[in-house]
Amino acid sequence: MTRRLEGTVALVTGASSGIGHATALELAREGASVALVGRREDRLTDLAGEISTAGGNALVVPADITDAQAAAEAVERTVEGLGRLDTLVNNAGLMLLGPAPSADLNDWRRMIDINLMGLMYSTHAAIPHLVKAAADQPRQVADIVNIGSLAGRGAFAMSAVYCATKFGVGAFSEALRQELARQHVRVSVVEPGSVDTELRTHNTAVVQQQLATAIGEIDRLQSQDIADTVGYIVTRPRHVNVAELLVRPTEQI
Ligand SMILES: NC(=O)c1ccc[n+]([C@@H]2O[C@H](COP(=O)([O-])OP(=O)(O)OC[C@H]3O[C@@H](n4cnc5c(N)ncnc54)[C@H](OP(=O)(O)O)[C@@H]3O)[C@@H](O)[C@H]2O)c1
Repeated sequence: MTRRLEGTVALVTGASSGIGHATALELAREGASVALVGRREDRLTDLAGEISTAGGNALVVPADITDAQAAAEAVERTVEGLGRLDTLVNNAGLMLLGPAPSADLNDWRRMIDINLMGLMYSTHAAIPHLVKAAADQPRQVADIVNIGSLAGRGAFAMSAVYCATKFGVGAFSEALRQELARQHVRVSVVEPGSVDTELRTHNTAVVQQQLATAIGEIDRLQSQDIADTVGYIVTRPRHVNVAELLVRPTEQI
């Protein structure tokens, strides 16, 4: 099988679990060297070992990207360690749900800090390297893939701020797509429905139960389904920018 990302470098935020973990593996399978960003270094190290055993190349970059300087340093360490940057996957995120009137403002701040600011800090630091990669071999194109959500396409009660952050990801992505199009840096947003990951476990038991009831006993997406979607987007020919993809579990209403 052709490894379509051979010679390229990708950075995946939130690679320590769920969608980010699966996406890092997927991009490595396609031949990319992958920088693994997240706070849980032990998990990133395990993943780097897995990639290396499979014949790939990974760099562990522990960072809390809600800090602008840490996000910029993560990008710089990637370029220093792996030589370039062709693909940025902004995946790290947090979903804390519940009624708005009784919400802890700190929970709102934490979601904005990672879902929006972390994504923006990483993007800002990466753009010069992506523009350079797009002007260069092997593909003459570079990618920013932002993981939004179904909650960025429609708003739901009990999810006001999570939805606000994910609508923001959609707006940021589209504006940036227009700005970078002529430099062949493609910007895409992937909007998953319910995926079976740790994301919902950060909520209280009551909220987790409410979520389970609202979604029902359905066959959820797996992280690999979204990794496949990211893999599809970044392996399109240079003239194709898949700007937006909404991926639902078949049974999710
Ligand atoms: N699961 C779903 O149903 C679903 C649906 C739609 C969209 N999404 C989106 O998909 C993305 C990935 O979520 P997931 O479902 O895979 O959940 P997850 O397993 O909880 O993964 C979240 C990732 O974000 C990282 N992260 C959180 N805060 C961070 C910080 N300050 N700095 C660096 N990394 C940070 C976490 O790593 P550390 O804790 O190690 O830092 C973790 O690897 C999120 O943006 C989420 O909103 C998920």
